[in-house]
Amino acid sequence: MKFLPLFSLFILLFFSCTKSRTVWLDELDLSNADQATGITRANQSMWRTPLVIASDTFARGIGTHAFGVIRVQLDGKTNFFEALVGVDDSAPEGELKQSSVEFVVIGDGHILWRSGIMHGGDKAKRVTVSLKGISSLILRTDHAGDGIVGDRADWVNAKFEFVGKAPYTVQRKREADYIRTPKAPVIPLINAPYRYGACPGNSILFTIPVSGERPMNFTIADLPSGLSLDSSTGIVTGKIDVAGVYNMKVTATNVHGTDCREIIFEIGDKLALTPPMGWNSWNVFGADISDEKIRKMADAMVDLGLTNYGYAYINIDDGWQGQRGGKYNAVMPNEKFPDMKALVDYVHSKGLKIGIYSSPWVQTFAGYVGGSADTPDGKVINSSRRVGKYSFTKNDVKQWAEWGFDYLKYDWCSYGGVLDRDLDKDPYSVSSLAFQGGGDSIAGRKPFKIMGDYLRKQPRDIVYNLCQYGMGDVWKWGDAVGGQCWRTTNDITDTWESVKGIALSQDRAAAWAKPGNWNDPDMLVLGIVGWGNPHQTKLKPDEQYLHFSLWSLFSAPLLIGCDLEKMDDFTLSLLTNNEVIAVNQDPLGKQATCVYSIGELRIYVKELEDGSKAVGFCNFDREKADISFRDFDKLNITGKQTVRDLWRQKDIKTLDTGRKPLSLNVPAHGVLLYKFTPVQ
Ligand code: GLA
Repeated sequence: MKFLPLFSLFILLFFSCTKSRTVWLDELDLSNADQATGITRANQSMWRTPLVIASDTFARGIGTHAFGVIRVQLDGKTNFFEALVGVDDSAPEGELKQSSVEFVVIGDGHILWRSGIMHGGDKAKRVTVSLKGISSLILRTDHAGDGIVGDRADWVNAKFEFVGKAPYTVQRKREADYIRTPKAPVIPLINAPYRYGACPGNSILFTIPVSGERPMNFTIADLPSGLSLDSSTGIVTGKIDVAGVYNMKVTATNVHGTDCREIIFEIGDKLALTPPMGWNSWNVFGADISDEKIRKMADAMVDLGLTNYGYAYINIDDGWQGQRGGKYNAVMPNEKFPDMKALVDYVHSKGLKIGIYSSPWVQTFAGYVGGSADTPDGKVINSSRRVGKYSFTKNDVKQWAEWGFDYLKYDWCSYGGVLDRDLDKDPYSVSSLAFQGGGDSIAGRKPFKIMGDYLRKQPRDIVYNLCQYGMGDVWKWGDAVGGQCWRTTNDITDTWESVKGIALSQDRAAAWAKPGNWNDPDMLVLGIVGWGNPHQTKLKPDEQYLHFSLWSLFSAPLLIGCDLEKMDDFTLSLLTNNEVIAVNQDPLGKQATCVYSIGELRIYVKELEDGSKAVGFCNFDREKADISFRDFDKLNITGKQTVRDLWRQKDIKTLDTGRKPLSLNVPAHGVLLYKFTPVQ
């Protein structure tokens, strides 16, 4: 008798090992999934709406976005995977029309099933694949060769049937970091930027970026009247009342030696003569920010020596806002920011500038009060009403200027919901804008124009970043509404899929980049990032080199998106290579484009002020590229050239480009960033 309980336990164990069970894809850990934009969600589209494919609603499944990759580990005893797949209906109509996704199931490196190209509005397709004997499964959503617009992709009613161990998701494999940037010398080196723009009479704050051992002594010959220099920190403050170009001879000296360089202040109507460099809170903290965190980041920025390489802005993103009030009936900070003016002063006292974030819509994406609201006193009663008829732009701008902000990121959010109704009552003329139609409506420029006009009226220089994800070819009209930089894409994520997707879509905007006007492919995803859920970036080391190199070639704003207090040596080495940064900050302000490709090796060329060219040999392939390169004429590079590896800061050789090839070994998803200087 006493064996009976043991026996039944055995039977139970036997059955649980052989009886098949079900696990739903939406029950697995989706944080391991990678996708080009947004995040993979359980039982919702990636846009947080119900899962709907061609008007059919599904209670369970996952919402993702092409390109997307979910890696699932199996134990060889999983019987099958089954799902319905299709493009989610949630994208706006225009985008849905452009959508095209292919769903692919890959088992142990072999394609087991593919959906064929699916478009928005196509009925869901069923996939059932046997997984017997398979140990690693990839569920991939491809963008089908035409970009990722509208490619919100759903795997619904998706489940695994298994015996034994339940399937589980895994992250992409990590690879060891390796540092290319040489250690900075102890002698002073004055680093870029060498140009600074300000309006006459407005306050100037510029920290001369110099690496090398401290203490250091700074002097400036011909310091314009109205400016003063702190000789031990190199911080320049004051104002210049008269427009003009002021050339200053800057000297930095320490016990090891001296460096001397010309730095030019252009006083006129242009700000951001080189792409803004700094830090922004969103990619790491999401909306979970506070006065204390911002101060700590400002401290870390200085302590890490990032200011010695030109990083100048500490930008507060979404999450600082409370309700309207104060003397201007402007958005006041919430309880996590007890004294905004004191915070601004603190950041300034460190020689740094500070940025703020807002939206023309009633609310921001993170649910905070925006620039419009549905009641005269600015309270949001019901954001779904999307009325937004009271604009508080003027009130808010006055308040920001009074607090002392230097940068604004102005985020469209869901402004489209109020657009048309608003247009009829538009008290502001947008007709002066030079560009007609094209993609999105002219009305979409309105809130940015209104904001731009008010910003210009303030007795303060506030760099203006338009964040509307590139709609209506913003690069063509961003300058006309007063912007200095504008996002060209949806939000970046720390995945190869995202960085690649963004990189490949930048060329169309390149011709509009110039001093004071920058295309912004979004903030950097290096170091500890995570939108409130901090983790090490999922990019491999070579992908990180490629990411930073491309953003430098693109003349993109370099806004660090990681936790500066948790900075590791590798990430710091990526962020502080003065020769790579000099490419980004080159005064000519050209944006590189891909001028030639060999397979997936794309070659980007950026013309530099001194007549040399920065060339990125960018390998988007998953195999390394070992080639003997001869086609210099395709890069418009001729004659004898000195070839310098900018990451390693080493001349490689002098090359007669007409005669000799250059041998290139570019890592998979990696880069060689070279500078070609003609030999005189
Ligand atoms: C949008 C922007 C992001 C960030 C968030 C804040 O998604 O593109 O960069 O500012 O809003 O809610």
